[in-house]
Amino acid sequence: MKYINFNNAGSSKPLNIVNEEINSFLEIENNYGGYYAVVKFKNKLNCFYNNLSKLINCKQKEISFLTSTTLAWNLFFNSLQIKKNQNILIFENEYGSNLIYYKNKRHNLKIVNIKKNGKVCFEDLKKKINKYTKVVSLCHVATHCGNKIEAEKICNYVKELFPEVICVLDACQSIGQVEVDVKKINCDVLVGSGRKYLRGPRGTGFIYINEKIRNKISPMILDMKNSEIIGDKIKIKKSHIFENYEFSPSLQVGLSKALEKVNEYGIYNIEQNIIKKSKYFRKKLENFNQITFFENLNTLTGINTLKIKGLSSLKIYTYLLSKGILCSISKYSSSLLYFNKLTVNDLIRISIHQYNTYDDINYLVKCLIDLITKKAII
Ligand SMILES: Cc1ncc(COP(=O)(O)O)c(C=O)c1O
Repeated sequence: MKYINFNNAGSSKPLNIVNEEINSFLEIENNYGGYYAVVKFKNKLNCFYNNLSKLINCKQKEISFLTSTTLAWNLFFNSLQIKKNQNILIFENEYGSNLIYYKNKRHNLKIVNIKKNGKVCFEDLKKKINKYTKVVSLCHVATHCGNKIEAEKICNYVKELFPEVICVLDACQSIGQVEVDVKKINCDVLVGSGRKYLRGPRGTGFIYINEKIRNKISPMILDMKNSEIIGDKIKIKKSHIFENYEFSPSLQVGLSKALEKVNEYGIYNIEQNIIKKSKYFRKKLENFNQITFFENLNTLTGINTLKIKGLSSLKIYTYLLSKGILCSISKYSSSLLYFNKLTVNDLIRISIHQYNTYDDINYLVKCLIDLITKKAII
């Protein structure tokens, strides 16, 4: 069976050209050996930094190529000294794995409310931020709810109040479907993954560190790639500071190709296309009051979460899978704070990308209507 992928927030279908690029680099490795291939095709590998720096508007040396958002995020937090009297400010859409980190480290956490309309409550932010706030960590688009958070407004507001606060943006779900300009947003750190809306390969991710905060960070993993011993001192290099010796060059060129295509097509065009499709999908189902959607139409992205009265998420997921439709279940663990507030345990997530056609969406809608109207046998 050929599946239609509506789980782009999990992992999208990589562009054909991305897979071709990876395969051709593997051929190169086959010919030249893994190490000489890197020497010989250095320029090709460097295109990754060029393409990503263009997309997010930063310097190439401020980027490190990594394997995932989780790794990037943890490398950053574990490389920063956070004192006992300092606090970290997060929001109610925080990603589950990040919550595990805070709990494990017993950091002093302050959690800012997100209002019913999906927007951050600035009064609460103002109340909770103080001179002991070391980091404000913000999830641009959450895994479990597709509202786009006003990152630019929040980071600028924070910096105005406390310029020394480090603003970290989790762009895992936004990069590739939403404009992410680190200068405009005014964030110091940004993390993301390649396999989601960028349509890059699995096992890729990255981190951006504003060079202005470089001296506040002591990278937790040092090796011969990012540092050297000079006399009795260790000198840490200024570029790509979180990279270590071993990496996957074929995946780096694959992600680079995906970034090149996003830049060529234009993030604005991609965003508009995706929003239009999300709205189309939701509109087709608006007369079925058994379905509840959880996003605000004014801050919509490609991520749409829903529940259907009388049907468990697992039932819906299994039924759609039997119809050749891939979606996902957003579970409680993906964001304890959000699900606690919502008082539901899980939701169905339909995450639409630009390459999903209107025919794909019509078929999904038809299947969902069959399910609601009990035409479908489950
Ligand atoms: C908002 C958000 N942050 C972080 C992550 C973790 O990304 P990765 O699995 O690439 O480490 C995810 C994954 O879905 C996510 O949705």
